[in-house]
Amino acid sequence: MADLFGDQPQGWDEPICPGAVVLRGFALARAQALLDAVAAVVAQAPFRHMVTPGGQRMSVAMTGCGDCCWISDRRGYRYDDVDPDSGRPWPAMPALFRALAEEAAGRAGFAGFVPDACLINRYEPGTRLSLHQDRDERDLGVPIVSVSLGLPAQFQFGGLARNDPLRRIPLGHGDVVVWGGPARLFHHGVLPLKAGRHALTGELRINLTLRKAR
Ligand code: SIN
Ligand code: FE2
Repeated sequence: MADLFGDQPQGWDEPICPGAVVLRGFALARAQALLDAVAAVVAQAPFRHMVTPGGQRMSVAMTGCGDCCWISDRRGYRYDDVDPDSGRPWPAMPALFRALAEEAAGRAGFAGFVPDACLINRYEPGTRLSLHQDRDERDLGVPIVSVSLGLPAQFQFGGLARNDPLRRIPLGHGDVVVWGGPARLFHHGVLPLKAGRHALTGELRINLTLRKAR
């Protein structure tokens, strides 16, 4: 039996479908350190509301770190190695992010995952992320690792087709979701965040998605 009270990892694995799993509490022991690292990134690359190609302001505030980061503007969605707000390269990816992503992916069956980009999403009460696929990465054989911190959210996870049935998965502080393989292009989103207060993040949810973009 797994040692639930050892150092790390904590929690239990909850399969969603082939290729996708929730690792409950996997990031819990590292949550404060992750949030400190997020604060250091944000000091260099502040959160901002990007605009969709259709001209809509996204309700999620975003920033990121790594060799490149996902951005959206009137020209489209893409990865860019420069922060368009500052004209400077994105902050380096903290080693802690890379280590967590590699361990979580390994536990989910995707050994050797080395992320080069991390998108950081900030949700306030009412913030949502509409159903989408993560498809701007070059190698779709590599998984996505998503880390939830702070206020809980309802994650939606569907299928390859936009109108496939959606599972609703509660994600709490310290939970990690990994999706890859047959689930790599499955649609997903986040329902409007409910108001609340978390000891470490206050009235916010912070999500990290670690990707290999290039
Ligand atoms: C994402 O799909 O990029 C973020 C998912 C989440 O916030 O849980
Ligand atoms: Fe996504």
